[in-house]
Amino acid sequence: MVCARVLQLLALACLGSALPARVEADYYLMVVPQSPVLEMGTNFTATCVIINTSEVTADDLYWTLAGTTVPKEQYTKINGSALNVTVPITSEKTEWLMCKCKKKNTLFFIHNEGKLIHGIDLKKGYVPEKPENLSCVAVQQKQYISTNFSCEWQTVGRQTATVPTSYILYTAVLPGSGQPYKEPTQKNNTQVKLGDTFPHYMTLEVWVEAHNKLGKIESEHLKEDSGWFVKTDPPSDVKVFSENSFPTSLLINWTHLIPTIRLKLTYRIRYRQNGTQNWTDVPLGDTASNIKSFRLQDLQPYQEYEIQVSCKNSREGHGYWSDWSTIVTKRTPEARPTSKPDLWRVIAEGDRKNERRVKFICKDPVLANGRIVSFDVKIQDPKDKVRNGSLEWKNIPRSSQGKITDLKQIDLADQKSVRVYINATNSVGKSDEASLFILAKARESELAPVEELKVFPHRGQLWLEWKPPNSTKLVSEYVVEWWVEGAQIDWQKEKRNTTRTAIKGHLDKFVCYNVSVYPIYNGWIGKPARKEAYLEQGAPLEAPIVRLHKAGRNQATLNWTEISRGSRRGFITNYTIFYTSGTEVHNITVPANTASYTLTSLSGNTKYDTWIKASTIGGSKISFNHSFTTLRYAQGEMELIVVGVSLGFLFIVVMTMLLCVYKKDVLKENFWPQIPDPGESTIGNWSPDYPLKAETPRENGLLGISVLDVDVCDGKCVFEEDKASLSLKKGKYLSEEHSSGIGGSSCMSSPRQSVSDSDEGGDMADTTASTVQYSSVVPAAPSGYKGQTPNSQPQQALFSRSESTQPLLDCEENPDVLQQEGSRQSQRSPPRPPRCTDGADPAGIAEQQELLEPLDFCPLGEDSEQATPVDGQAADWLPAPPPLSSYMPQLGGYRPQ
Ligand SMILES: *[C@@H]1O[C@H](CO)[C@@H](O)[C@H](O)[C@H]1NC(C)=O
Ligand SMILES: *[C@@H]1O[C@H](CO)[C@@H](O)[C@H](O)[C@H]1NC(C)=O
Ligand SMILES: *[C@@H]1O[C@H](CO)[C@@H](O)[C@H](O)[C@H]1NC(C)=O
Ligand SMILES: *[C@@H]1O[C@H](CO)[C@@H](O)[C@H](O)[C@H]1NC(C)=O
Ligand SMILES: *[C@@H]1O[C@H](CO)[C@@H](O)[C@H](O)[C@H]1NC(C)=O
Ligand SMILES: *[C@@H]1O[C@H](CO)[C@@H](O)[C@H](O)[C@H]1NC(C)=O
Ligand SMILES: *[C@@H]1O[C@H](CO)[C@@H](O)[C@H](O)[C@H]1NC(C)=O
Ligand SMILES: *[C@@H]1O[C@H](CO)[C@@H](O)[C@H](O)[C@H]1NC(C)=O
Ligand SMILES: *[C@@H]1O[C@H](CO)[C@@H](O)[C@H](O)[C@H]1NC(C)=O
Repeated sequence: MVCARVLQLLALACLGSALPARVEADYYLMVVPQSPVLEMGTNFTATCVIINTSEVTADDLYWTLAGTTVPKEQYTKINGSALNVTVPITSEKTEWLMCKCKKKNTLFFIHNEGKLIHGIDLKKGYVPEKPENLSCVAVQQKQYISTNFSCEWQTVGRQTATVPTSYILYTAVLPGSGQPYKEPTQKNNTQVKLGDTFPHYMTLEVWVEAHNKLGKIESEHLKEDSGWFVKTDPPSDVKVFSENSFPTSLLINWTHLIPTIRLKLTYRIRYRQNGTQNWTDVPLGDTASNIKSFRLQDLQPYQEYEIQVSCKNSREGHGYWSDWSTIVTKRTPEARPTSKPDLWRVIAEGDRKNERRVKFICKDPVLANGRIVSFDVKIQDPKDKVRNGSLEWKNIPRSSQGKITDLKQIDLADQKSVRVYINATNSVGKSDEASLFILAKARESELAPVEELKVFPHRGQLWLEWKPPNSTKLVSEYVVEWWVEGAQIDWQKEKRNTTRTAIKGHLDKFVCYNVSVYPIYNGWIGKPARKEAYLEQGAPLEAPIVRLHKAGRNQATLNWTEISRGSRRGFITNYTIFYTSGTEVHNITVPANTASYTLTSLSGNTKYDTWIKASTIGGSKISFNHSFTTLRYAQGEMELIVVGVSLGFLFIVVMTMLLCVYKKDVLKENFWPQIPDPGESTIGNWSPDYPLKAETPRENGLLGISVLDVDVCDGKCVFEEDKASLSLKKGKYLSEEHSSGIGGSSCMSSPRQSVSDSDEGGDMADTTASTVQYSSVVPAAPSGYKGQTPNSQPQQALFSRSESTQPLLDCEENPDVLQQEGSRQSQRSPPRPPRCTDGADPAGIAEQQELLEPLDFCPLGEDSEQATPVDGQAADWLPAPPPLSSYMPQLGGYRPQ
């Protein structure tokens, strides 16, 4: 028909082209075929025909698909008025295929543009494929099987919205004459009602047909006994019974509503321990057809079990298993514990010396088979032969809270070993005995520890790894023990071939655990290997407190506190010290075992801020700021300054004192003029002196030398010296007074000298003689002194010895002090040196150079220190030693005081 029409149209087209001049009213373009349904992936050919006009030819035509011009290569020109095009069908989308006429600038085109265009829409789809996995089920409805027969199948292949696939479910009851039940649907499942009652013991043939505009196809036919499609409800009223005489078994019974006349059923049973995931199936062979009860066996005593039952048509391979019945939970009865209790101990320091406090603790046996109510404990000292047999079992109730029971605590002497035996008791009976032996402390090392213990976190658990002890003794098991300070200890036992295990108890993060592994040698506890470990490390909760310990000018020592154990939350890996004086922040990282650090290269007298960061591998915590200021002066710098200032001050003082010495003379002269007292006149004394003066050289010549050499180291000297000093004192005192009487001159003035001479002359002949000699010489000295000219050689030698004369100065300032001084000095002074001096001095005058050597040697050889002050004393009543030289020794003179 279509072909005929096309031909007709073509004929018309030819006709039209034959009459080009005539303009017909119904000329147009036409595309054939109209509204095609196309299969994806094929090529489609369409023809465009020009009808009723010769104004346009096939050469003027072109095609567009979805707005895009189809290339010329896909065109096939049939004749002058017909053009074919072939397009591949690739996209599922519906598209327009248009035939158009090229625009020519003629009046015809302008007026007839709308007529010279035609298009068709291309609907696309897939040929339906065979439905698969057809399955049908007839469910239970109370005592019957429902007549609602449900089927489901798997749709295969693709379909488009424009070309959808529909299904028809056919169900035929065989043998039977009627038409199969026909149930159309768009979905992949449907239900069909099979008459009034379920066709028990008949055959059902089921199939499904898929169809669309591109074709249709049938599924495989399912031809089975009606019982094959039945799925019953699970057994109802499932009950489980436990019997005390059978602690490892449970009895199950149940009912089912479907009468066996309609359907014979078979059952299956599964069970699991409460809290576990996997089910244990009872072998199907054990659950014979049509049973109503079953006894589960080989269960654990005192365990909760969850039980389920399900059923199906008992005919081999027929029917579906019902759903599982609701879970029924039942606990098996108790039985005697079948494993030993887990015995352990905690050892602490005892109250008394050489004693351990041993606490025995235990956990229930793994196979407690009931509720443990108590433990029987026996502690035995193997050496104690007397009480061995009499040691009684002690019954200790199980801890009401927690899994660990404290059994007994004993104080055990270090040298003693002990054995502990324990049975656990539940309501049915007693367990076997567990035992633990504790060795005398000294012998503990005989039981070697495990080697190379490693503790590390891994996947949320704390793992341990070790190597077996290097021991000839056989390890029977290991105990892994862990504890946190302040919390109860926990442990677990491991088989003797274990070298790697994870701690099974609950561990907290950020807490430091002390983990130990003990090898157990046939009950004897070996030496532990210990480690600290964290399950997970975090940043410390607290930061250390940093404080300045000592500051210098360019350095400062900081101390910081250790973070408390509870706040550390990890192993401190290092500390970082930060410090800044305002601009740049410096930091220094120091190892974790330090608690003090000295910052160097600081600026003096500068305020520094410092803080410290404590780090673990889990993070770090920064402390508060602490400020300190460096010193203005370095260590010792201050002291130097102080010493310098002190020295300066001392210098000034001394200078002042020296000035005073001069000024005093002046003052004395000015304000305290010496008025000669006629009553006290020394003129009388004077005259006898002159003759003496003449004598002295003689005596000197005789005595001076001889006495010197003999008496230098003579003990007698002491006595004489004492006397001499005594006389000196007098002399000084007197000379002071008398000299003042003479007027004007200083302590060393010649008049004084002469006075003392006279006194001493009475006391001691030798001394007097020498003094006299001096006094006679000295009068010449003042001129030298005043003129600041150096004295003659012998005099210098003399003065140098008298330099250290402390009293000399005192004499100037305070005659009383001088006196005391003198007496003291004389008491302390060794006796001989003055002697030497005395002897020397005259010698210096008589034969200066010769005597100088023995003179110097003598005091130095004995004791130069002591010699000097004595010399001073000797010099101090000597006339006019030059002030400068007397000043210097003054310092030295003070020192001994
Ligand atoms: C469609 O046409 C193209 C080119 O004309 C050809 O290569 C291809 O094989 C054809 N496809 C089918 C399914 O015929
Ligand atoms: C042109 O297309 C028509 C269908 O529209 C088809 O029947 C005919 O065979 C095609 N001719 C050629 C030469 O491809
Ligand atoms: C039937 O279709 C539903 C969704 O339309 C799908 O979830 C189900 O798996 C299909 N069943 C089969 C047997 O393919
Ligand atoms: C299950 O067993 C109990 C006790 O043995 C009995 O009383 C009950 O009737 C039984 N139920 C069934 C359905 O057999
Ligand atoms: C066992 O089951 C009971 C109730 O069925 C429940 O209360 C109990 O917590 C369960 N025990 C375990 C260890 O799962
Ligand atoms: C439970 O069964 C699965 C496999 O069926 C197994 O991988 C798993 O280890 C079992 N779990 C226990 C606790 O037995
Ligand atoms: C503990 O168990 C042992 C056997 O393992 C037994 O000989 C002992 O008598 C038991 N102790 C008590 C107190 O029953
Ligand atoms: C094991 O112990 C023995 C003696 O106690 C010693 O000679 C040996 O070196 C040890 N071996 C190791 C690996 O420590
Ligand atoms: C330890 O020994 C037990 C048998 O006693 C064995 O089952 C287990 O695999 C062994 N474990 C190792 C790590 O050798």
